[in-house]
Amino acid sequence: MARRRQIYEGKAKILFEGPEPGTLVQYFKDDATAFNNQKKGVITGKGVLNNRISEYLMTCLGEIGIPTHFVRRLNMREQLVREVEIIPIEVVIRNVVAGSLAKRFAMEEGTALPRSIVEFCYKSDEMGDPLVSEEHITAFGWAAPQDLDEIMAMSLRINDFLTGLFLGIGLKLIDFKLEFGRLWENEQMRIVLADEISPDSCRLWDVKTNEKLDKDRFRRDLGNVEEAYQEVARRLGILPESGPRDMPGPETMQ
Ligand code: TMP
Repeated sequence: MARRRQIYEGKAKILFEGPEPGTLVQYFKDDATAFNNQKKGVITGKGVLNNRISEYLMTCLGEIGIPTHFVRRLNMREQLVREVEIIPIEVVIRNVVAGSLAKRFAMEEGTALPRSIVEFCYKSDEMGDPLVSEEHITAFGWAAPQDLDEIMAMSLRINDFLTGLFLGIGLKLIDFKLEFGRLWENEQMRIVLADEISPDSCRLWDVKTNEKLDKDRFRRDLGNVEEAYQEVARRLGILPESGPRDMPGPETMQ
């Protein structure tokens, strides 16, 4: 079979040309990075789990009417997605103080926020994804004011839905990051949810013990990183069934 054309390689995923115009294949790697690429590692099986977790969450969101780029999962590590023009903004939604918010304001991690906070970062590895305001986004033309309103409304709706979904499986959605893209259909532009939703892009704490079940286990060298991702998939009821043989051993790593 002819080698597929690679469109883009990010830190955790690769995008290939899709089978039809307007589609891409999103491949999930086991590579993990933190602190803007300063810390690098491999979380064995992460790509397989994130592919499933993101498929599941995007499908649920689709069912409540949130438009997403997701089309269908193709195999263990790949999903078919609609090709979108990524808006260069990371939308971070926070329900509980943690991570960079705790650091920025010298606040204790775990403090519940009286209302959810939405933050925006400009996607730029060279600049270290700086925090930006709505004014920067509209003045620099990264998104129009009405696009930003739509992004904000969708993000809050996604937060409400995911908070309930995770609570149902004993997990607190502390914070998470979303990305959106522009999709053109017959001269009409729609904003859709893109990228992924997984323990790479969410903070998830066990409701009873506050145990961290997300990428902070890797960022902070807490151990049992693979197990945490597996536990999230298990609770969602989507753990690949055939056990370890279904997971990529070292022989299938790139
Ligand atoms: P932060 O506290 O480090 O700013 O992260 C907030 C949330 O966003 C957390 O759930 C992790 C996620 N996130 C990403 O998905 N990608 C990133 O590059 C960063 C910095 C955070």
